[in-house]
Amino acid sequence: MDLVFIGGSLRPGSLNRRLMGYLARAASARGHAVQVFEGEHLRLPLYEDGLPIPAPVAAMAEALRTCQGAVIVSPEYNAGIPGHLKNALDWLSTQRPSPWTGLPILLAAASPGAFGGSRGMLSWRASLANVGAWTAPGAITVPKADASLAEDGTPVEERTILEVSRVLDAFFAGAERMGRSR
Ligand SMILES: Cc1cc2nc3c(=O)[nH]c(=O)nc-3n(C[C@H](O)[C@H](O)[C@H](O)COP(=O)(O)O)c2cc1C
Repeated sequence: MDLVFIGGSLRPGSLNRRLMGYLARAASARGHAVQVFEGEHLRLPLYEDGLPIPAPVAAMAEALRTCQGAVIVSPEYNAGIPGHLKNALDWLSTQRPSPWTGLPILLAAASPGAFGGSRGMLSWRASLANVGAWTAPGAITVPKADASLAEDGTPVEERTILEVSRVLDAFFAGAERMGRSR
């Protein structure tokens, strides 16, 4: 499958970007083609009607339209979606045809906190439902991620590696079954 990964914060040491690197490598190792959008791709002007479409928005929209699944790896800010990622979602939702329609999505989050970014996912689920994407019921959360992820994003604990692998495999199988066309 063609898969798109979007996420991380804008800071260089982003734990979510680290986690996304690990997940993207895991997807590649399973034979999937992976495109990753992070960092500068997500440093977008605030959405405003009439502004020219930023090049990264056009690139992400095209990648999302033609992929079979996407993984969003998002920090949780104040129990919700961080501004830069909500802004990217909003920009993308203005594109036609909508890149979100019928797109299977897996949510993932890492946080130094105890809840692993799980509360922010409630906001993600509401917004993704609104734009017509299919968000998988399972999700990946990594609590205490400053200690539980290695520098390269690999979970330190073996049982986390196994659980992440199980959620990834379930998502890939579900997305294959949905068979979104290219
Ligand atoms: C404005 C702001 C709000 C935050 N709110 C939460 C929160 O609600 N829940 C949480 O687990 N962490 C929260 N954090 C801490 C982030 O999870 C932490 O900074 C994390 O490292 C951000 O992800 P990153 O490492 O990918 O940059 C917040 C951080 C900031 C800057």
